[in-house]
Amino acid sequence: MKKRPVVVVTRRLPDVVETRMRELFDTRLNLDDKPLSQTALVEAVKFADVLVPTVTDEIDASVLAQAGPDLRLIANFGNGVDNIDVQAALSRGITVTNTPGVLTDDTADMTMALIMAVARRIPAGARVIPEDEWSGWSPTWMLGSRITGKRLGIVGMGRIGQALARRARAFGLQIHYHNRRRVPQAIEEQLEATYWESLDQMLARMDIVSVNCPHTPATYHLLSARRLKLLKPSAILVNTARGEVIDETALARLLEAGDLAGAGLDVFEHEPAVSPRLVKLARQGKVVLLPHMGSATHEGRVDMGEKVIVNIKTFMDGHRPPDRVLPSML
Ligand code: 8YV
Repeated sequence: MKKRPVVVVTRRLPDVVETRMRELFDTRLNLDDKPLSQTALVEAVKFADVLVPTVTDEIDASVLAQAGPDLRLIANFGNGVDNIDVQAALSRGITVTNTPGVLTDDTADMTMALIMAVARRIPAGARVIPEDEWSGWSPTWMLGSRITGKRLGIVGMGRIGQALARRARAFGLQIHYHNRRRVPQAIEEQLEATYWESLDQMLARMDIVSVNCPHTPATYHLLSARRLKLLKPSAILVNTARGEVIDETALARLLEAGDLAGAGLDVFEHEPAVSPRLVKLARQGKVVLLPHMGSATHEGRVDMGEKVIVNIKTFMDGHRPPDRVLPSML
């Protein structure tokens, strides 16, 4: 009988996903869900045929250098692959897959929710009644900023950026975007989106800016200290992509100085650590911080697991898996 592939899963996945994986593969689960140490990751890649990591695992060149000869596939549970040194994997003949598409709507929903949360001060308002601090309505209390008619600048017009644009249009926002490549005219027309070749020029003119690009060497600190200063003091910045795209220290400085109206962040440069300066700003009601929840829906996580399974099964059956990560995508 053909040996079933040894599949090491680094974190707990939804029950249905784990059950199916056990039926199909020789699956090694992480039942207590503690992130693996680098040493444990090295142990895993030494004997696994397939590794299923998540955003909390750093599969760098030093881990990959110790991979055993059987490791042929890294089937990432997640869309972003900045946790993996993909070039190092590919050069060792290891295929890498991800889970695109199935978390687009959930992440775009969360981005819109963050925009609303910051602009309309939802977390600050939501604290008032549970903390017994409401003495009554007032015409000038708890005022936020109107969304309708404002300019939204989307940095990264891929699947999630476009899904955000569709939602934002329904809220009456004007859509602007910057992307490595201009999107096809039909999409621009459908979204009534204005393309800015110059990110700098776009940033200087937006009321709300949303980061929706992947983290790659080219986008690390794309929103640098210099670029953040271009934002209008009344602007709001949201990020549901990756913390590394924004210079977090420069952002905190800007917010502290009152040179930026607010920010909504679901991702951070050094997760799970969050800058104490940002935490302080959140306590003051100036920023809204979420613990990387963009794709956190029951349905989304099951769909992601399903994609991982299809990628592994297809690969093990000798075919090209549907969600291969190619060097051109990095
Ligand atoms: C996931 C994400 O929660 O898929 C991604 O790129 O950022 C998140 O939605 C996480 O990456 C799972 O590994």
